[in-house]
Amino acid sequence: MNLKDQVVVITGASSGIGDAVARDLHSAGMRLVITARREERLNALADELGADDVEVVAGDITDPALPQALIARAVERFGRCDIVFNNAGVIDIKPIDQVDIDKVCQMVRINVEAAYRMAHAALRHFQSISPKPRGHLVNTSSILGTKVRPTAGWYAGTKYAIEGLSEALRMELAGTDIAVSCVEPGLVLTELHADWETHPVDLLDIPNPLRPEDIARCVRFILEQPAHVRIPRLMALPGEHEI
Ligand SMILES: NC(=O)c1ccc[n+]([C@@H]2O[C@H](COP(=O)([O-])OP(=O)(O)OC[C@H]3O[C@@H](n4cnc5c(N)ncnc54)[C@H](OP(=O)(O)O)[C@@H]3O)[C@@H](O)[C@H]2O)c1
Repeated sequence: MNLKDQVVVITGASSGIGDAVARDLHSAGMRLVITARREERLNALADELGADDVEVVAGDITDPALPQALIARAVERFGRCDIVFNNAGVIDIKPIDQVDIDKVCQMVRINVEAAYRMAHAALRHFQSISPKPRGHLVNTSSILGTKVRPTAGWYAGTKYAIEGLSEALRMELAGTDIAVSCVEPGLVLTELHADWETHPVDLLDIPNPLRPEDIARCVRFILEQPAHVRIPRLMALPGEHEI
């Protein structure tokens, strides 16, 4: 599929994977609606890419009104919304005796509730497109949406939720022109682990983690398939990943 002039909503675009996907899809000729809380980061990205093609909507993704507002802004500003990259997320991985359950529940609100709301808003919009409903929802899952390890269940559970939802949506939408995919990264060097005492590069002995650009290539690959090809799940791991 040719992405030129199509419109994508990207959540979590202020750093890491979302930022890299924004740059990559812009280079493919797409117009963007980018969102996150850090407005100055989003404005800097929009200035760099060219404000004509990029709309900034700063906000907290746990605001229940934001997902619908993002779609509405894409339609107002660019006349359409073809793709949603549902990517904003946080991580909390700790042993039972150290975990802060309130922080975990906030993670659930971001990684699950907000992602569900974004998915729902995207799919309702795609279904409303006339004369033929169409669109592509790409969710950021994780290797930890497919397998667990001790202490990681708090986070892995949120990504399993995304995997389960995505698979059921894919089945429900089979035979339509609406696609649902998950990208499943292993360790990527982003700001996600910024507050960890020991970075997972050392903790998991993965000295050469993925780069955000690696995931951007995966997302582009998912999106550029011809209409008869679906990629429900695409996992990318560092070569040193053993677990
Ligand atoms: N890095 C990895 O190893 C890895 C591996 C597998 C999956 N993932 C997934 O990849 C996705 C992106 O993470 P990343 O690695 O790129 O980390 P990152 O650099 O920390 O980016 C996370 C993004 O999510 C946004 N975000 C977080 N909480 C938010 C909130 N309440 N409201 C709005 N935006 C919020 C952040 O923006 P603001 O702080 O500006 O709001 C930021 O743009 C996440 O879903 C993560 O679980 C990452």
